[in-house]
Amino acid sequence: MIIVKKIGVLTSGGDSPGMNAAVRAVVRKAIYHNIEVYGVYGGYSGLMSGNIKKLDLGSVGDIIHRGGTILQSARSEEFKTKEGQQKGIDEMNKHGLEGLVVIGGDGSFRGAKALTEQGFPCVGVPGTIDNDIPGTQYTIGFDTALNTVIDAIDKIRDTATSHERTFIIEVMGRDAGDIALCAGLAGGAETILIPEAGYNMDEIAERLKKGHERGKKHSIIVVAEGVCSGVEFAKQIKDSTNFDTRVSVLGHMQRGGSPTAFDRVLASRLGAYAVELILEGKGGRAVGIQNNKLVDHDIIEILDREHTLDLDLYKLSKELSI
Ligand code: F6P
Repeated sequence: MIIVKKIGVLTSGGDSPGMNAAVRAVVRKAIYHNIEVYGVYGGYSGLMSGNIKKLDLGSVGDIIHRGGTILQSARSEEFKTKEGQQKGIDEMNKHGLEGLVVIGGDGSFRGAKALTEQGFPCVGVPGTIDNDIPGTQYTIGFDTALNTVIDAIDKIRDTATSHERTFIIEVMGRDAGDIALCAGLAGGAETILIPEAGYNMDEIAERLKKGHERGKKHSIIVVAEGVCSGVEFAKQIKDSTNFDTRVSVLGHMQRGGSPTAFDRVLASRLGAYAVELILEGKGGRAVGIQNNKLVDHDIIEILDREHTLDLDLYKLSKELSI
């Protein structure tokens, strides 16, 4: 039974490749079911200032393959306040919206949680390269970011070999080590530093020295930004081994680029599923994927859970890089 006639969609926080595919899915799925969709431009800042425009089928044409977000994104301090949230609700009421799909990461979900608690139903779609949202195995953009990092590692490996250097590659991920771990494993890194596991500098120095002694030409060390900066770690390596190091901070290039097939399919499924929930009259949910099945959780409860990383994968990465 359709109980909702008009919904909004916004993207918020750090953008991620595949957000456009998710926006497209929300818009097309809603219109397919005769629901009007309004795009909120500029995340929660745009919501507070009423930057809200009706979207039609054509508004989301030719975007499935594009990185970034056509709806723009922002991080808003003001929206963390009750007053800011009320401004947003007033604007949505003005436009007659009855539900909101929020595509974003942790901070965006917190905003969606606050709106839901204040009586405005939101459905959260996990879109962040960090892969750090509890309740879903994958977030939209993670796979693309991973492939970007792997591509960079492969290239850095070429030059590292030529010069017999130790390279330290700093990757994003906020407090999560998912990008570092998966990219490090897939890129054959000798050492991976993630916030979820401590590290022992003596052990790392020993491994580097042993590798050097047996004629290893180079070493690749992937450092998650949640552990420390690449530059800081390079100093520690220099102090412990006296090896010549170079640091590459991959930075925001990890957030750009055309989404992979995996991210496009994931975004399409999650975006459409969010609309299905709204059609069923369900608000206050966060959608996700587990074992390739779509799932949804209470958005209030989900943020209290801890994001977990597969430490078996970490163990494996250590075993394979002896
Ligand atoms: O959450 C995505 C992310 O790219 C993190 O990996 C990173 O720590 C942060 O955003 C960077 O934020 P900003 O774009 O505001 O510098």
